[in-house]
Order: sequence, then structure tokens, then C-alpha cells
Amino acid sequence: MSSSSSSAPVFHVPAEFQAQCLAWQRAGQRVGMVPTMGALHEGHLQLVRLCRQYCDRVVVSIFVNPTQFAPGEDFDRYPRDLDADLDLLRPYAVDGVLAPAPSAMYPAGYSSAVQPGKIAQVLEGQFRPGHFQGVTTVVAKLLGLARADVAIFGQKDYQQLAVIRRMVTDLNMPTEIVMAPTHREPDGLAMSSRNRYLTPEERERALVIARALFRCRDRVAAGERDARELAVDLMQDLIDGGMDSIDYAVIADGQTLESLNVIGDDAVALVAGHVGRTRLIDNLLLTK
Ligand code: PAJ
Repeated sequence: MSSSSSSAPVFHVPAEFQAQCLAWQRAGQRVGMVPTMGALHEGHLQLVRLCRQYCDRVVVSIFVNPTQFAPGEDFDRYPRDLDADLDLLRPYAVDGVLAPAPSAMYPAGYSSAVQPGKIAQVLEGQFRPGHFQGVTTVVAKLLGLARADVAIFGQKDYQQLAVIRRMVTDLNMPTEIVMAPTHREPDGLAMSSRNRYLTPEERERALVIARALFRCRDRVAAGERDARELAVDLMQDLIDGGMDSIDYAVIADGQTLESLNVIGDDAVALVAGHVGRTRLIDNLLLTK
């Protein structure tokens, strides 16, 4: 562990982090966790602020998890700057930051994984095979290390949240999962560490995603109930707006993520695709 008077204690050794969290819990304190891959932005910081409301001790993990990246994805170039992240966290006086090396999380001989179910096979699961197994495995490890009473995840990664909720329920994990709303730039673009990859021209074109999603939600608010027509129009808006590729643009049930024919009382629009080389995802609740 290393620390200075003003920045959070940083734990590079998972067992030391776990011992600290255990000590807090034995003293009757609730521990809340915000798992991240770093390259922190205001969306992450909002999760940290929310976490504070639920517990006595707030811990943040910063770990670019290799097992959730497929070969050819951006693992190598994913932005990493621990000092900048610690600076951003400073105002929130978090109680601990877990920043392990990959070899500390996956030492020689490591060979277990949490296999997610059906909800992980659609949408992102189709386009990023193995991704959610990497996520569930690392999140199970992180929640176990923190012995977290509560953990905060962003709606920005809606399917990830659904997969994690399913895991926590199915495996009787004692952590309460809380969803934080998607934090957007003033012009609507959902904040993401990957937005850093966008050129100014791509950044402008990426706005089509939020605009198409908001148009979809406005139509539902105005009474449209034909989910198939909404999905077709969502797709068309994205094409017209100049996205370079679209992996999916769907209207789905908020719980099962199965595509809907008719808007019910829990519908979500989800989009993924590329602007330039950068893969972006976003979603919007249509009925809440
Ligand atoms: P990362 O992409 O760093 O995101 C960490 C958390 O921040 C996730 O819960 C994500 O949904 C949330 N988040 C990101 N952008 C957001 C935004 N604009 N508004 C609100 N929340 C936002 O997601 C991961 O890391 C990893 O898969 C992880 C869960 C840490 C496992 O490795």
C-alpha cells in the first residue's frame, strides 16, 4: 500500500485490500465499491458520489481487465493513467483504490471463471464473444475482495448491469447492485473512456447515437407503441447520421433484453456500432 496525505490509499496487492475491507466490516462499517477500468471521467465520478450515499467506506477499483477484451480489441491501447485518475478522485476522499497488476489478479495457475447465462448471449454477447464471462469473473473477484455491501454500476453499460444483477442473484452474492444513470456531455454524447479515441469530426458524428435514441424516446412519449417500427427508424436514423457500422439497434425488454414487438412498461432502446475505428454503445429507457 502507498499513500500520501491528500490522495486515497492505493492497494496494488489484492490480499492487502481485502484485509483492509474486512477490518472495516468487522468495525461495523458498510463498504461500497465502484469497479472501473480507469481513464476516469465525470460518469465514473458520479458513481463514486452515489456510492457515498450507501455506505461508510467507498472503494474504487482501477483495473483494465484483460479477460474481457477479445483478441483484436483495444486492450493494448486502452488509456491508462493512474496518477490522473487519483487526482480526479481526490475531491471525493475515497477510502481505498485497488489498482492491481494483471498478474496479481490472474496469477500463474489461475483457472476458474464465472459463466454468465442467456442474458449475456444477445447484443454485446454476439459481437464480443467471451466479453461478459470476463466481466462476470472479474466483478465476482472484485466484489469478493471488497466484501462489498453495495456496488454501483452505470446504466451506460445496460447489458453489463443486467448480467451482473443476474450473477449476483444466481450465485447468492451478498452485494446490493445499484444503477447510476448515464452521464452525458452537454450535447448528449454518453461519456465514455473510449470517446478519447474520436477525432473532432468523429466526435461530431457520434452525436447521432444520442439524437436517434432521444427521438425514439420522444416518439414513445408521444404514444408510439410499435416497437418494430421504432427499431427500424432508429436504425435508419443512425445510418442517415453517418455511423460507419451498426452492430445492433434494438428495442428490448428491460429485464430479458429480448426484442419487443410492442412497447410495454419496461422498454429500452440499445445501440452499438462504430464511428471511425471506435466502437460506441449507448441506450435509453423508453418508458421510465
Ligand atoms: P468502465 O468502462 O471503466 O466503467 C466503469 C463503470 O462506470 C461501469 O459501471 C460503467 O457503466 C460506468 N460508466 C461508464 N460511463 C458512464 C457514464 N457515461 N454514465 C454513467 N456510468 C458510466 O464497465 C467497466 O469499466 C468494466 O466492464 C468493469 C465493470 C469495471 C469490469 O472490468
